[in-house]
Amino acid sequence: MPASVNRQIVLRRRPVGMPTPGDFELVESPLPAPKDGEILSRTIYLSLDPYMRGRISGARSYAQSVEPGQVIVGGTVGLVLESRCPGLARGDVVLGYAGWQSHAVAAGAAVRKLDPGVAPVSTALGVLGMPGMTAYVGLLDIGQPKPGETVVVSAASGAVGSAVGQIARIKGARAVGIAGSQDKCNYVVGELGFDACVNYKRGDLGVSLREACPGGIDVYFENVGGDVLRAVMPLLNMNARIPLCGLISEYNATETVPGPNLRPLLFNRVLVKGFIVSDHLARLPDFLKDCGGWLREGRLKHREDIVVGLEKAPEAFIGLLEGKNFGKLLVRVGEDPTR
Ligand SMILES: NC(=O)c1ccc[n+]([C@@H]2O[C@H](COP(=O)([O-])OP(=O)(O)OC[C@H]3O[C@@H](n4cnc5c(N)ncnc54)[C@H](OP(=O)(O)O)[C@@H]3O)[C@@H](O)[C@H]2O)c1
Repeated sequence: MPASVNRQIVLRRRPVGMPTPGDFELVESPLPAPKDGEILSRTIYLSLDPYMRGRISGARSYAQSVEPGQVIVGGTVGLVLESRCPGLARGDVVLGYAGWQSHAVAAGAAVRKLDPGVAPVSTALGVLGMPGMTAYVGLLDIGQPKPGETVVVSAASGAVGSAVGQIARIKGARAVGIAGSQDKCNYVVGELGFDACVNYKRGDLGVSLREACPGGIDVYFENVGGDVLRAVMPLLNMNARIPLCGLISEYNATETVPGPNLRPLLFNRVLVKGFIVSDHLARLPDFLKDCGGWLREGRLKHREDIVVGLEKAPEAFIGLLEGKNFGKLLVRVGEDPTR
């Protein structure tokens, strides 16, 4: 007996801090009817993902918010009940973005037909879907692990993290997970084959992470932020890479989280790469030519803050740390015959 109503979960009000059931509301509406080029599907699987916390908050993000009264967004695997789209037929299973509802109409072009013979269709929302793809591109294109390097991933037993560590192992790297229970850690090591996993809720994370990563960390795949990132920082090796994927420990924060706000780096796809100028000495001739020319032409301005007398050096230096200098701080220890 086909259903005659569409059951939907809409956002009732924006959560403050950790969402509560009262923030959501179940409503019913008539089944929608597909137009030309569209399908009607019945949802089989709805993916629940951390990014949804961002969608139901009103905060500026990289994607549009769900407004109160609207169906919560989400990836879905659905069964086509009716098709007015060439290439899709009743009974097909499709990957789509129907959101938190039992039925949905979608443009045929907005869904992808799945082959249940290739893999269980649910995997299209997980290991062969958005989370798996996130792990794959984040690790391989940004993290670029090399054989023998140590890759650490937080939220290691989760959809993204579990794939990250395993792909790292496939590429010949050591994989170390960070997860929130001993059961999860046992799974990560015993089932997934990570080399180690640290329970961040037990003991001193910095100490146990150091023990798990005696050679330091070459790639940190960041899913969590906050205290976990803080513990990772001192262990980062020269030329380490951090694919900044998620900051789940902050998603329910009601106040500014202490420390630098990393969200703009994530949302704006900012690349963070350390550098030391002495590695770039080959650029010295270009630098002198360009900046010397601009200085002579008056196009490059500068200011000097000159303290006279070597004895003033300590005070001047302390002043520098307090921001008292204004311009390039110099100590004139002796006369400058050229001025
Ligand atoms: N940038 C992108 O395009 C993109 C795409 C997909 C996902 N992501 C991000 O990837 C991360 C993982 O997503 P997922 O889908 O794989 O979820 P998931 O790991 O399957 O589930 C979330 C896990 O995060 C951990 N967690 C929750 N609150 C935490 C807290 N306060 N501190 C530390 N850990 C906490 C929990 O594991 P423990 O018990 O181990 O703490 C939880 O099981 C999220 O940050 C998500 O936003 C980003």
